[in-house]
Amino acid sequence: MRLAIIGTGYVGLPTGVGFAELGNDVVCVDKIADKIETLNRGELTLFEDGLEDLFRKNVERGKIKFTLDMQSAVCNADVVMLAVGTPPHPITKEADLQYIYAAAKELAQYLDGYTVVATKSTVPVGTGDEIEKIIREINCDADFDVVSIPEFLREGFAIHDFFNPDRIVIGTNSERAREIMLQLYAPFVGKTSFLLVKRRSSETIKYASNAFLAMKIHYINEMADFCEKSGADILEVAEGMGMDSRIGKKFLNPGPGYGGSCFPKDTNAMAQMGRKYGAPLNLIETTIAKNGERKAKMGLRVIEAIKSNPEGKIAVLGLAFKGGTDDCRESPAIDIVREMVKHSHNICVYDPKAMVNAKAILGDSVKYANSIEDACRTADVMVILTEWEDFRHIDLLKIKSIMAKPEIVDLRNMLNVDDVVKAGFEYQGVGK
Ligand code: UGA
Repeated sequence: MRLAIIGTGYVGLPTGVGFAELGNDVVCVDKIADKIETLNRGELTLFEDGLEDLFRKNVERGKIKFTLDMQSAVCNADVVMLAVGTPPHPITKEADLQYIYAAAKELAQYLDGYTVVATKSTVPVGTGDEIEKIIREINCDADFDVVSIPEFLREGFAIHDFFNPDRIVIGTNSERAREIMLQLYAPFVGKTSFLLVKRRSSETIKYASNAFLAMKIHYINEMADFCEKSGADILEVAEGMGMDSRIGKKFLNPGPGYGGSCFPKDTNAMAQMGRKYGAPLNLIETTIAKNGERKAKMGLRVIEAIKSNPEGKIAVLGLAFKGGTDDCRESPAIDIVREMVKHSHNICVYDPKAMVNAKAILGDSVKYANSIEDACRTADVMVILTEWEDFRHIDLLKIKSIMAKPEIVDLRNMLNVDDVVKAGFEYQGVGK
């Protein structure tokens, strides 16, 4: 099948590479000339585990191409996928649909023959109707259908998730469009569940899922706070809860609060939609407020840990919003560092992948280290903010020998408490 994918970000690029690997002819379009140049030089514009090999392979065999030219990509496509950003509006926090509508306006001119316009971007309920209207107004002869095909990829696992989805949701009332989408997703038949629903249901499923996961994290974080006061251990509590298949084991890891480019944006947009439709989503509203407060609280927890020597060095391990990605958008780690910067001028940060992105946000408010050891040398406290596997295997005795004071604040519960205590550290996890 011939695919045009509009937008080469964390969704568009792995999706394009995935469909190319499945044998489709994919053309990825972006407005940013630098990105297209880089991709055409055979270099990636973002880090995703497992992406590089598949990208190279499919570029070499001509299955994926990159262009600034929307016309050439769209006029030959059977399916045009919209994978542009829907960032939060700075004031209302609603999803800002300017990029999606601009893309719809542009592609409308070039539709040639029956085409499915499939929305991968996370868009509020009713956006499919708007896209349809925009295309119809610009090109009244166009033969097309608009389908919602929400994306459930996680950053850092995008390639794994592309090939192993939990479900494929196809939202359309058009039989013809549904058949084409089923053909495109035929390699997944028998491997996962398919759900064929109305477009508005499909648009809602994506938000309802992300908001539910965010609430689950908020719940376990509150439970962790309770455990700290009551003498229970959150890891044991989460394990016991997760054994109930109705609750499930996943997303019960307490931490510094959720972040990233999706949960904060999507919970806000969903809450906003609830207000708009007069159907308040109180659980989501509370989750948003409490998750925000949590990050500031966690920053102060670290400051408290160095109160005996406020000038002492704070070594921060982890800046990305979670392990396995270089993405720092809405990263709890960044917010926590910002909170600490208000109280300390002696912060040194390290992340295995996210240094460039973090530097663009934190500037010269902190110092930057090029290894775990470099960050921890002469530090009074080591703080773990992102769950990178490297941090789990820290050589505790070696690190202790170079720190000024053996103290760890582990906001991701990465380290084994017994090992850390045996190595002679003072240790604080979350919910213990
Ligand atoms: C999330 C969803 O998991 C994907 O299904 C969805 O496709 C994606 O948003 C999207 O809308 O595009 P992602 O933002 O990549 O994926 O990250 P997650 O792995 O879901 O983690 C989000 C945040 O929750 C991170 O800050 C993470 O550290 C935190 N988290 C996650 C916890 O604090 N505890 C957990 O148990 C799990």
